[in-house]
Amino acid sequence: MNNKGSRVLEILRANRGITISGEEISSALGISRSAVWKQISALRNRGYRISARSRSGYCLEEEPDQLDEGVLAENDILYFETVDSTNLAARRLAEKGATSFNTIIADQQLTGKGRLGRSWFSPAGSGLWFSIIFRPLALTPATVSPVTLVTAAVLAEYLSSAFSLPVKIKWPNDLQVGGKKIAGILTEIKGDLDRIDYLIIGIGLNVNQKTADFPSAIVTSSTSLAIETKTRIKRTELLINLRHSLLQAYRLFEKEGFLPFRQTWIDYNRTLGQKVNISWPGGSLSGLASELTDEGRLIVKDELGRIHLVSYGEVS
Ligand code: BTN
Repeated sequence: MNNKGSRVLEILRANRGITISGEEISSALGISRSAVWKQISALRNRGYRISARSRSGYCLEEEPDQLDEGVLAENDILYFETVDSTNLAARRLAEKGATSFNTIIADQQLTGKGRLGRSWFSPAGSGLWFSIIFRPLALTPATVSPVTLVTAAVLAEYLSSAFSLPVKIKWPNDLQVGGKKIAGILTEIKGDLDRIDYLIIGIGLNVNQKTADFPSAIVTSSTSLAIETKTRIKRTELLINLRHSLLQAYRLFEKEGFLPFRQTWIDYNRTLGQKVNISWPGGSLSGLASELTDEGRLIVKDELGRIHLVSYGEVS
């Protein structure tokens, strides 16, 4: 936040619960009213709820939960206020040699990436948008792909036990509560056919958004921890605990593969036993999702009784 922004915020804080006019702020700070308005809108973009009443002025209603940069640094997590995408930031670091488990978090992503070329809504002050660099020396591109299912299983188990929520995994790795998406995972790989250089595991978790914060295109299909638990959550602490569980899981996955996580994934999934339509760039398939293999592939039986093994796509 720039100096003008913090001074406007100071005045709003000092007048909490009171509406203060743009003119008063502008004369207190010796800046123009349009400069005040610019700072108010920048603060709103950072997650501050500021009501505006024509004629009377501005009132600070609520401050966002702040990610604590110092505590994150003590826990080996690199914080950015704003990045294009934490997956891209992680890739830039990995290219410079960053080691396994280096983690990057941003309060806001300007071009957050979703699966299948989609974008990921990543406003400031409300979510956990983070990426973990993973260099599994003993694995190959063929054996590493279930790492996304491992991530989904760990998130589902952690969120359901920490917040007593009925979290479900929609194959392969969408996390949902009550049929609405609460988190997504985007794993990207750099390597060649028989050797992994590194993976970037990107996780987006909706934490403190209210329903009105989601854009209309996703409002009916999205939810957050705050909406489901009706409480505001401290993101720093949540990230540190989640990362701890994830790193433990990745260490075990490197040694023993997907098998130790398969049952957890099955316990939380909502896809097995369902008729599904799976689509991917260039194809689609309908049938019964009957099982998950030990390697994390979905077994789908089509109407002609043919068995298909599916590794990626989108279920509807
Ligand atoms: C999905 O489409 O479900 C995957 C969404 C993944 C979003 C996360 S947010 C942190 C990381 N950085 C990105 O740009 N994307 C992932």
